Amino acid sequence: MPQLAVGNWKMHTTRDEAVRLVRGLVELTQGIDPARAIVGVAPPYPFLDAVRDAIGGAGVELVAQDCHEAKSGAFTGAVSAPMLASVGVKRVIVGHSERRQVFGDSDETVRAKLLAVLDAGLHAILCVGETLPERDAGQAEAVVERQLRAGLADLDAAALARVTIAYEPVWAIGTGRTATPAQAGELHAFVRERVLPQLQAGSLAVLYGGSVKPDNIDALAATPHVGGVLVGGASLEASSFARIVRGCADHGAE
Ligand code: PGA
Repeated sequence: MPQLAVGNWKMHTTRDEAVRLVRGLVELTQGIDPARAIVGVAPPYPFLDAVRDAIGGAGVELVAQDCHEAKSGAFTGAVSAPMLASVGVKRVIVGHSERRQVFGDSDETVRAKLLAVLDAGLHAILCVGETLPERDAGQAEAVVERQLRAGLADLDAAALARVTIAYEPVWAIGTGRTATPAQAGELHAFVRERVLPQLQAGSLAVLYGGSVKPDNIDALAATPHVGGVLVGGASLEASSFARIVRGCADHGAE
């Protein structure tokens, strides 16, 4: 399976910066075999169109950072999955820890968003991960298992085929404190070998996220059960994200 490398730009860039960034990325990732690495970018909503046009025929996937769970309605400021599909988005991130912590998305909300994404015919990246107090209390596995069960229970095989998991320890996001390959490997093994098979979801890819950088990508991408990465800060510079994509490609199977 190819590894998946997605850059989450969060609330960064102006329109011009977004276009420049994706153009640079397209140029620097030319020639990377899509059988080894799939590249995606998740720009802010207002720039989805412009970024899609700048991507043109290049093989970079358009990803959205979030969506509302309803199809349409009186939800001022919100954006629905069918809207995202209509501008060419292929994949939507749901349950990012910033949505859970800053915007109060509960496990139930994340589940509803996941269903909305799948209903719109799109792929989803379901983010899970423990906070530092939860890790220190020895609850990392229990928290991740709860989030996965809430998100994935009772989905049929066709729906699951369009879901990717991202394990992102909250204490490693934007902090410069990456999980060591051993810590990431432990949780990835737990998810891949213990939790997902119980949910009939054993074949789902599991990405790692949290302070992924050019200097740690090789070790992370080589970690057993890591199927790619979700990258924040280091995806805001074309050269560093391209280096990360190459690291993934080195470990993605043909
Ligand atoms: P970071 O963000 O790479 O800046 O730690 C990761 C994420 O939020 O997905």
